[in-house]
This record gives sequence, structure tokens and C-alpha cells, in this order.
Amino acid sequence: MRLAVNIDHIATLRNARGEQEPDPIAAALLAEKCGAAGIVCHLREDRRHINDHDLARLRQAVTTKLDLEMAMTPELQQIALKTRPELITLVPEKREELTTEGGFDIARHYEVLAEYLKPFNAEGIEVSLFIEPEKSAIELAARASADMVELHTGVYAQKQSSEEQTKELQRIREAAIYARSLGLKVVAGHGLNYLNIAPFRDISEIEEVSIGHAIIARAVLTGLEEAVREMLRIIQ
Ligand code: PXP
Repeated sequence: MRLAVNIDHIATLRNARGEQEPDPIAAALLAEKCGAAGIVCHLREDRRHINDHDLARLRQAVTTKLDLEMAMTPELQQIALKTRPELITLVPEKREELTTEGGFDIARHYEVLAEYLKPFNAEGIEVSLFIEPEKSAIELAARASADMVELHTGVYAQKQSSEEQTKELQRIREAAIYARSLGLKVVAGHGLNYLNIAPFRDISEIEEVSIGHAIIARAVLTGLEEAVREMLRIIQ
């Protein structure tokens, strides 16, 4: 199973001080160096983490696969066609949300979506749709000529009991099998972490997982030790 690393939170930290550090592009290169198969970033309407300049620099720097998460707006369509990431992932976006809260409602937007995807199909930019693990959404994704679906694992991650988690995992497994049977590539993401990821190794239909928060949160703590030691070496 491959890992795609979302580096948005590096930009969130940088933006907290309005300065240059930490640089999300440096983080992307480190993730690639360690074996990440792709770099994910979400250019939000309010640019709360990465911005347009970051995206242009990421496009220059990333040599594995750049996955641009984006809302289905005309502005983002233009930016994406100009930037030419290997992959775009369409996500629903609400200004007030802390993070993406659920899958894209394809049934509601089907006609607009099918038109929206055409230039990407024509330009050879792969399209993934972030959806709930439901048959109806998967069927519509295939019909709208998406190449891939990203199954939302946030519900699984939120389940408290192992019984509930197993049930949700089964729903994800069945969705993955169904999506593959329709010729779609399948990835999964949202809320995955060091404690809940293991069962995904057994779902062979899921080729890749997309993880941001857990990795960046862990990096802060594992890296803090060396950062403090380094500063002490300088001042002592
Ligand atoms: N996949 C999608 C579509 C997302 O919007 C996000 C969050 O930006 C992720 C994966 C990664 O989620 P997390 O940060 O919880 O690992």
C-alpha cells in the first residue's frame, strides 16, 4: 500500500506567524525522500494553509505525484489546469469547517460535475472524487468519468467501539471492491492515524492512503527532541 502525505498543516504552522518557516515545500521533499508516493495539498478558497505561490513551488519540486485537493469551482478549475498536478481530488468545501467534513455529494452535483471533469480528462490530469463508501456514489463517479475514488474514512476513525469500527471497515471494504469492479482506482483517507491504519493493509483494493494530521502532529513531537538539543548545543 502506498502513502500520500498531506502537507497542509506545515503551511498552517507557517501562517500562524506570517513568516517563511516551516516551508511546506521542504516538508514535501522530506516526505518524498522517506518514501511517500505522493504529496497532497488542499488549496482552499480562503487559502488558510497553502497559497497559490506554494502550489506553484510544489509543482516545480514534487517528483512523485502531486495531488491537488480542491472544491469544484471555476477558479480552482483554471488554477488546476494551469498548474497541471498529476491528480486532482474534488472535495466539498465549507468555509466554516475545520477540515473536510464528508464526501462529495455527487448525486446533487452530477450534471455540473460531468461537465467540470471534461477538460481534466482531455488534458490527461487524473481525477479522484472524495466520497462516502456508498455504492450509489461510486456508480456516479464512474459514470462521470472519474479515474479514482477516495473513500472517506473519517466515520471509521470516529467510531468508539471496535465492533462499530469493524462494521464501518466492512462498509469501506465492500465499497472498495465495488469501485474496483467498475474499473476505478481506489484510495482512502481522512482521520487515519498510527493506531487505526493497520486493518487497511488487508484491503488489497485500496492502493493508497492519504494522511496529513497524524503524520504532521507526530513529526512535531518526534522532531522536538532534536530541535531542543540543537538549540542547547548552540547556547551552551
Ligand atoms: N483526504 C482528504 C480528501 C482530505 O480532505 C484530507 C484532509 O485534508 C485528508 C485526506 C487527510 O486527512 P487527515 O489530515 O485527517 O489525515
